[in-house]
Amino acid sequence: MGLNEQRSSTTDIIACANQKGGVGKTTTVVNLSAYLARSGRRVLVVDLDPQGNATSGLGVDKSAVARSVYEALCDEAPLDELLVPTMVERLDLVPAALSLAGAEVELAPLRQRERRLSRVLAPLAPRYDHIVIDCPPSLGLLTVNALTAAGSVLVPLQCEYYALEGLSQLVATINLVRDHLNPTLAVRGVVLTMFDSRTLLSAQVRDEARRHLGGAVFDTIIPRSVRLSEAPSYGLPIALYRPESKGAEAYEALAREFIVRGNPTAGGPPGPLPILASELLPPEARTPELPASELLAPEVLS
Ligand SMILES: Nc1ncnc2c1ncn2[C@@H]1O[C@H](COP(=O)(O)OP(=O)(O)OP(=O)(O)O)[C@@H](O)[C@H]1O
Ligand SMILES: [Mg+2]
Repeated sequence: MGLNEQRSSTTDIIACANQKGGVGKTTTVVNLSAYLARSGRRVLVVDLDPQGNATSGLGVDKSAVARSVYEALCDEAPLDELLVPTMVERLDLVPAALSLAGAEVELAPLRQRERRLSRVLAPLAPRYDHIVIDCPPSLGLLTVNALTAAGSVLVPLQCEYYALEGLSQLVATINLVRDHLNPTLAVRGVVLTMFDSRTLLSAQVRDEARRHLGGAVFDTIIPRSVRLSEAPSYGLPIALYRPESKGAEAYEALAREFIVRGNPTAGGPPGPLPILASELLPPEARTPELPASELLAPEVLS
């Protein structure tokens, strides 16, 4: 069985990615995953960011993590030995640790460097309904590994100045991965985060995103909420920290919408959701793209 066949189980593997920092990737991974688990799904969160915010946000002390996903990527430990349960029933975590910080460099010379995560997730996948990967804020080898392992990409977009800036780079990377590594990779959707109903700017970003990205934008919008920003310091998803808060309601609604929308990648080629086309983006979103040769190994490009 080849690598791609192994991945195409029914498990829904989602990469949460945006190379912009602080847009709500980790908050979305932690809280969407928690609500999916609470609705009965078996969920695995993979923390692929050396910062380890998903790890600590789910209550695992990252300084005490002896072996992280990094060891699995380098063939030093099977991934199932790294799994830790969380406080949420049916929600497991593959933690990050500082060792991951060297991964971009250390993975570079390894064989099949872009497919490492895909390969180590394959034997675990049947145990879960969803595997949600938290990506670092860059378009390096770790994010490429996540995009190669995933069936679809979820893109958080912060309702702030220049929200759409840099989106074309992300789209170009997604397209590059589709062309060379993972032809069925789909865009699952764009989640608007940190929406502030008191500001005109938030409304403008929302309207702009819907105009340019259309149906790819989830109807559910995540509001700016102090409770959401406090929860990680208690190591709790919002569902356990403040289930009655606005932020909790929003992520619960997002999980519901996520389930209703279904998995566009299940059992076949990319589904009805549009792949974001760079040409559709407004000028400020069109930033220069990285040359493919900087991102992918020569044997992948050949
Ligand atoms: N809806 C929200 N309301 C208020 N604060 C939020 C919200 N979403 C995220 N935050 C806070 O904003 C900061 C950035 O969020 P988060 O860590 O989820 O972003 P990120 O994209 O994962 O960042 P990075 O790129 O560094 O990994 C965090 O302090 C988080 O607690
Ligand atoms: Mg993060």
